Amino acid sequence: MTDSARAARPTRRRENQGPEDRDNIMTGLLEGKVAIVTGGASGIGLATVERFVAEGAKVAIADIQDEFGGSIVDRLGDSVLYVHTDVTDESAIEALVAATVERFGKLDVMFNNAGAGGDRSPMLEIGSAGFDRTIALLTGSVLLGHKYAAREFVKQGTGGSIISTASAAALQGDGRAPDTRSPSTQWSESSARRSRSSHRSVSDRTRSHPGSS
Ligand SMILES: NC(=O)c1ccc[n+]([C@@H]2O[C@H](COP(=O)([O-])OP(=O)(O)OC[C@H]3O[C@@H](n4cnc5c(N)ncnc54)[C@H](O)[C@@H]3O)[C@@H](O)[C@H]2O)c1
Repeated sequence: MTDSARAARPTRRRENQGPEDRDNIMTGLLEGKVAIVTGGASGIGLATVERFVAEGAKVAIADIQDEFGGSIVDRLGDSVLYVHTDVTDESAIEALVAATVERFGKLDVMFNNAGAGGDRSPMLEIGSAGFDRTIALLTGSVLLGHKYAAREFVKQGTGGSIISTASAAALQGDGRAPDTRSPSTQWSESSARRSRSSHRSVSDRTRSHPGSS
């Protein structure tokens, strides 16, 4: 191709030119969608809430940090709802999905993201209470998020997406217990295969492994 032909050729501008531009762009990618983000009051969850809202979604923030949750609602307005939710409590997750549907009319996306380090005692010292607490937070909550979101998707007949934050620690293990052995990653990935085959419209993926480099 000659230089003049190349110059005359229409160029398709990509909207996402680079990381700085991408951060500032509102593409409306999630226009009309309704999402739940657990652990949405800080860190990865909060960044997700902000981006989802910028992309046009309505978002329910589920967390136990009520003060932060309230200040996010003050800042982002009617596009967000804060629901105090301890994700280790099954009835709280069920109520969260119900409150989201009541406020925004439906559910399209569930992001199981809430979590914390858990009991990091060495294997020779850990007690069962610390183990149970950690597994409830890092694995049980992911199961509950899947259960009540998928129920809603099936009820709606619309399908939906389930995303779960995992950890690089689940892939490598480092001698601490039980968070490095938390099966949330493996559970989520095998569940994804099962739920895709039983409910073809439910898309379920573990998307991120924070802590990996
Ligand atoms: N940042 C990392 O390097 C890293 C590494 C591995 C895994 N993770 C995982 O990524 C997720 C997000 O982490 P982050 O770095 O944004 O941390 P963060 O502490 O900023 O955010 C976690 C959020 O989860 C909330 N939360 C904790 N326990 C909860 C409960 N029982 N019910 C409801 N909400 C609860 C916290 O209040 C907080 O708002 C977590 O699941 C974390 O375990 C993060």
